[in-house]
Amino acid sequence: AVAEGNYRLYYHLMPPAGWMNDPNGLIYYKGEYHAFYQHNPYEPKNGPMHWGHAKSKDLVNWEHLPVALAPSEIYDRGETGGYGCWSGSAVDDNGVLTLIYTGHVDGRTPTEVQCIATSTDGVTFNKAAYNPVIAGAPEEGGFGFRDPKVWQHDGVWYMVIGYGKDGLGKALLYKSPDLRDWSYIGVAAESDGTMGDMWECPDLFPLGSGDDHVLVISPMNMGTTKTMYLTGKFSYETGLFDYRYAERLDYGFDFYAPQTFLDGQGRRILIGWMNIWGAQMPEQEHGWMGAFTLPRELKLSEDGTLRIEPVEELRAMRGTHHRVSNLSICAGTEVPLPEIHGDALELIAVFNTNQSASDVEFGLLLRCSEDGSEYTEVSYSAADRKLSVDRNHSGTGETGVSEVNLSPLEDGRIKLHIFIDRSSVELFANNGLKTVTNRIYPKPDSLGIKLFARNGEAFLESLDTWKLTTEG
Ligand code: FRU
Repeated sequence: AVAEGNYRLYYHLMPPAGWMNDPNGLIYYKGEYHAFYQHNPYEPKNGPMHWGHAKSKDLVNWEHLPVALAPSEIYDRGETGGYGCWSGSAVDDNGVLTLIYTGHVDGRTPTEVQCIATSTDGVTFNKAAYNPVIAGAPEEGGFGFRDPKVWQHDGVWYMVIGYGKDGLGKALLYKSPDLRDWSYIGVAAESDGTMGDMWECPDLFPLGSGDDHVLVISPMNMGTTKTMYLTGKFSYETGLFDYRYAERLDYGFDFYAPQTFLDGQGRRILIGWMNIWGAQMPEQEHGWMGAFTLPRELKLSEDGTLRIEPVEELRAMRGTHHRVSNLSICAGTEVPLPEIHGDALELIAVFNTNQSASDVEFGLLLRCSEDGSEYTEVSYSAADRKLSVDRNHSGTGETGVSEVNLSPLEDGRIKLHIFIDRSSVELFANNGLKTVTNRIYPKPDSLGIKLFARNGEAFLESLDTWKLTTEG
């Protein structure tokens, strides 16, 4: 049975029922996109982890496939406590779809080992008889040893694994000629003391030119920062990733354990888990939990920062279009937009701070109820140069304000690209310079959109909106 209810998303990947966490094994294989995910098919709660599986031709419409991996062996199945097929990645080994994952069994030593499973039809997977392929961490006294991300370079397989020691998160590097025999190279990168004590889901990949690489991590115990990206140079000779820039990857509350992959067009695409451990998860009452973020294309800019933009395939969802342009919004007013409403919408708003009052605060109210009591506020403060998403009036679930520093573009513009999908709001600001991802749980009939200005007049150059539709 497939779960139902008004929090079900229209155009994001979710489990048919049960629990979902991390994206796993993202891969473009034989002309299709495959996505796996941490999944408890029995309950909408964290539990024995399986690998759920779906595929897509266009990154928009997903087809669910049978569960790919279930706990079954001494190295991935326990009797009590935490156990299962934990996070990992996928590679195409000469046509063989190979999953590399962590077998986790609480109470066993070592608790975490690395395993592989293969498939030739892309649906049914066999665990290798010789598992585990890495039977434990390279040294004693570490904390965690999981989430292998594997890639090929010059005919050699490489792997980074999440690890922590002496209070520092680390990404360990291994190599193998055949995905079976692995040798430890060393610590590719570690925390400078400010980036958590264990790095979950490390992902190291080339982006830009030459030796330019990016390391994406989900550090544990780093306060409100849950994911980071580090940019710099990686050398296959030394096995060292020398990072020169580090920033939070997404500034929302509901973004964790992202993974990237390279597709057939050479794009580097990132998908995250659109939830966070420990949060209230109102959809659990409806028999399911968890969703992927939209697929986002990454580009590296010359100053070492990333640009993170929704993949262009998403434009195929665009239905009815509406445009408002050159609108001055008076201080202290809210402008309702009766033509535009819904719970599956894309909006692109371009404000211009050069033509607005200097201390102005402007933005949009999304998912507004008719009586005005419920709304999610996206606002920009010109004085503070801060963008925020406030979900203190968004309905049930978690409250709080996500904030990020943002300067106007050179021409004074603030560009807000927003995707609303029932229980989610994803914001891409200033051409993917900052992203803010949040889940919200408003009432089903809170569907209105408003513009607002405070502390002065705001100038809106344009607002384009589309109702979004998918095949099903
Ligand atoms: C990240 C994570 C991974 C682990 C998986 C277990 O959210 O904790 O480190 O492999 O989830 O489901």
